[in-house]
Amino acid sequence: MTDIQQQITALTERLHHLNYQYYQRDISEVPDQEFDHMLAELARLEKEHPEFAHPNSPTQRVGGTITKQFPTAEHRYPMLSLGNTYSEADLREFDERVRRGLEGADVTYVCELKFDGVAMSLTYQDGQLTQGVTRGDGTRGDVVTNNVRTIKNLPLHLRPATNQPKEFEVRGEIFMPLPVFAELNTEREANGEQLLANPRNAASGALKLQDSALVAARRLRFYAYSYLTSGRGSFPTHSASLEAMQSWGLPVSDTWRRCHSLEEVLAFVHEWDKQRFTLPVATDGIVIKVDDFQQQEILGFTAKSPRWAIAYKYPAEAARTRLNSIQYQVGRTGAVTPVALLDPVPLAGTVVKRASVHNANQIAALDLRLGDMVFVEKGGEIIPKITGVDLSARPADSQPIKYPTECPACGTPLIRPEGEAHFRCPNDRGCPPQQKARLEHFVSRKAMNIDGLGAETVGRFFDLGLVTDAASLYDLPAKATELAQLDRMGEKSVQRLLTGLEQSKQVPFDRVLFGLGIRYVGETVAEKLAAHYRTMDALSAASATELAAVPEVGGVIAESAAAWFQEPENQAMIRGLQAAGLQMALTGEAPQAVSDRLAGLTFVLSGVFEQYSREDLQQLIQQHGGKVTGSISKKLSYLVAGDKMGPAKREKATELKVPIISEADLLAMLPTDTKTPEEEEASDTPTLLTADLLPAPDSPDSSTPESKPGTGLGQQGSLF
Ligand code: IVH
Repeated sequence: MTDIQQQITALTERLHHLNYQYYQRDISEVPDQEFDHMLAELARLEKEHPEFAHPNSPTQRVGGTITKQFPTAEHRYPMLSLGNTYSEADLREFDERVRRGLEGADVTYVCELKFDGVAMSLTYQDGQLTQGVTRGDGTRGDVVTNNVRTIKNLPLHLRPATNQPKEFEVRGEIFMPLPVFAELNTEREANGEQLLANPRNAASGALKLQDSALVAARRLRFYAYSYLTSGRGSFPTHSASLEAMQSWGLPVSDTWRRCHSLEEVLAFVHEWDKQRFTLPVATDGIVIKVDDFQQQEILGFTAKSPRWAIAYKYPAEAARTRLNSIQYQVGRTGAVTPVALLDPVPLAGTVVKRASVHNANQIAALDLRLGDMVFVEKGGEIIPKITGVDLSARPADSQPIKYPTECPACGTPLIRPEGEAHFRCPNDRGCPPQQKARLEHFVSRKAMNIDGLGAETVGRFFDLGLVTDAASLYDLPAKATELAQLDRMGEKSVQRLLTGLEQSKQVPFDRVLFGLGIRYVGETVAEKLAAHYRTMDALSAASATELAAVPEVGGVIAESAAAWFQEPENQAMIRGLQAAGLQMALTGEAPQAVSDRLAGLTFVLSGVFEQYSREDLQQLIQQHGGKVTGSISKKLSYLVAGDKMGPAKREKATELKVPIISEADLLAMLPTDTKTPEEEEASDTPTLLTADLLPAPDSPDSSTPESKPGTGLGQQGSLF
C-alpha cells in the first residue's frame, strides 16, 4: 500500500468511527471543527488520488454525484404494505386472528412507532452499503444509492460482527426531521419559493433529486425496522434482529417494546398517543408485529400484506376554521370536484387553506354553507378534508352552496350519470381542463414518460395553442424554433424535449394504451387488453361484448373502451400516433398455453430455485394448465421446495401429507417435446419424481385453495 493509500484508509476509518460515535451513541469525541478538517483533508486526497477513494467514503455524505435518471431494480423480496386498523376492537380482532392462526400458542408482539416517511430497502454486502432502492410499485423501485449515502445517521459501513451475514437487506424509513422541515420552509418562504407540502413529501421529493449535494442539504434521517436475509445469520425473533442491527451501527429507534399480551399492546398505543408529538419525527401510528420469525412464517401473507403485522393509525388531527368559498375543478374525465377555500389554519405541521369536499352529495350531507365554521382533518392525503360543521357557530347570514349546473370552465351544462356521485362536463373534446389533463396524463411517468415534458410544460404548450391532443405532441419537432423562443425554454430544453419525444416511440404498446386516458382503463387493464389483443387494430375493432370477455375486464370498462374507440376523433388521433411511429402492437412472442399436463393440479412454490426464477416457474406451471397458490392446505397437489425453504412449510406439508418435490421434479412432469433447450438440459438431472406421483388430474384433492399466492421466501420467515 502506498503512503497516500494508507492515509486515505486511516482517515476513512477514523471518520467512520467518529460518525458512529456521534450518530449512534451521542458521543462527540472531537470538536466539530476537527471533524470538518479531517473530512476536508480526505476529500482533497481523494480528489488527487481518485483511484484510492472508497465508494462508501465519509465524503460521500456531502454529495455531489449527479444521477440523470435513476435505474430501477427488482426487489428480492416484494415490499408489501400493512393492513390498517383504527380502533381497539380492530386490534382485538387482529390478536384473535393471530392466536387462531397459531393454534393458541403463546405470542409475543413487538410494538414500534410508524414513522411517516419513505420506505427504503438497503443492501449490505461484507458490511458495506451497496444499494438503496425505493419501494416503487412494491416489485421494482428506483436505485437511489448515491442520494441515500448522504443520510448522515445511515452507516455506509457496519461494525464487523460474527452474527452479521455476508449479505442482507435492511428496510426502514427515510424521513425529514420536523425541525428541519420547519426550518427549510421558513427559508423557502423568505426566498419566495414553493413550500414543501409535508415532511413525507419533502423526504420523497429529496430522494428523487438528481444532485446528491442538494439531497444532503435536506438533512434526511433513517430508522431501520426490518431485517431480511436468505443466507446464514438468522435470528429467532424480530426483536433479536433489531438488537443485532443496532449493535452493527444501524439506527434503530429505541421506542420499540416487546409486549406479551394484547393489554400491553394497548398500553403502548395509549402511551404514545400524545408522547409521539415530543419526537422530532412525524409518526402516524403504531406497527404491531409478531416477534417470532417461525410464527411469522406460519401466519404468512395475503396478496398485499403480512398476516403477522398490522398498523394502528391514530385518529387524524382536526382543526376548526371558516369556509369562505368553493372552487370547482374539472378533471381529466370531466368530473367536477368541489374544493373548499378556507381561512388559513395550522394543522399537523402545515397551514391549511384548501380542503376537498369530494362531491355534491357530500355538500348536502354535511349541510355545508358559505361562512360556516368547519372541521378539517388530515388523513394521509396532502389536501385535508372537511369532516363536519360547527352548527352552533353558524352565522345568521350563511349562504347555501349553489352547485353549478354548467361547467365552470367551458359553460356546457353538467350531467350526472345515474348512480354516479360526480357531476360531469360532457364536452370532453372542447373543455380545456379536460384536454389539458389528458395531455398531462399522456406524458406522465407511468404512461409515455416523456423526458423534458412535464405536466407544467405540456399545460403551457396547450395554453399557447401549440398542442391540442396526444398526436399533436409529435408535431412539436416542426415547431422547434418557435419553442426555443419561449420564456424558460432555450435550445437545450427543446433538444431534450425532442429527444424525449423520439425515445417515447419505443414505449411499449400497453403503456401507449394506458396513456390514451380511456376512462376505467388503468395500468393493469391496459396490460390485460394489450396482452389479449396484441395490436391496436385488433383492440379498436373489438365490441363491448368481446372486450368484456377478457379476464379482469368488466362490463363497465368494456363499454367505456368500446365507446372510446368508436369516436371518429379518437380514431383520427390513433392514426396520428401510428403515423408518428408509436408502438401500436406488442412485440415478442405471445405466451401460449403449451399443454394441459398439469391441469387440475395446484402448486406452492417456496424457497429459491436453481434453474428458473419463481415467476418463470409460475408461468411454466400455468402454461401447462396448473395453478399456483400461496398456502399449504390438504387440497394442495405439491409443495415445490427450493433452496432455503422455511422449516414451517415443510412441517405443515408433511403433516397434511402433501408431497414435497424439487424444481427438477416439477420440470420432469412437463412433456419433453414442449421444453426449451435449457429445460431439456434441466431434465437430464436425475429426478426423484416420476409420473406415478401425479394424482389424476380430476382427483378431488386437486382443487384450488382460496388463499392468494404468498411469498414464503427466506429463512427468516420475515420478509420485512
Ligand atoms: S414494517 C409489510 N415498521 O409503513 C410492511 N413499517 O404500510 C412491513 N413504516 O411503507 C413494514 N414505520 O415504510 C414497518 N416501524 C415500522 C414502520 C413501517 C413506518 C411504513 C413502511 C411502509 C408502511 C407500511
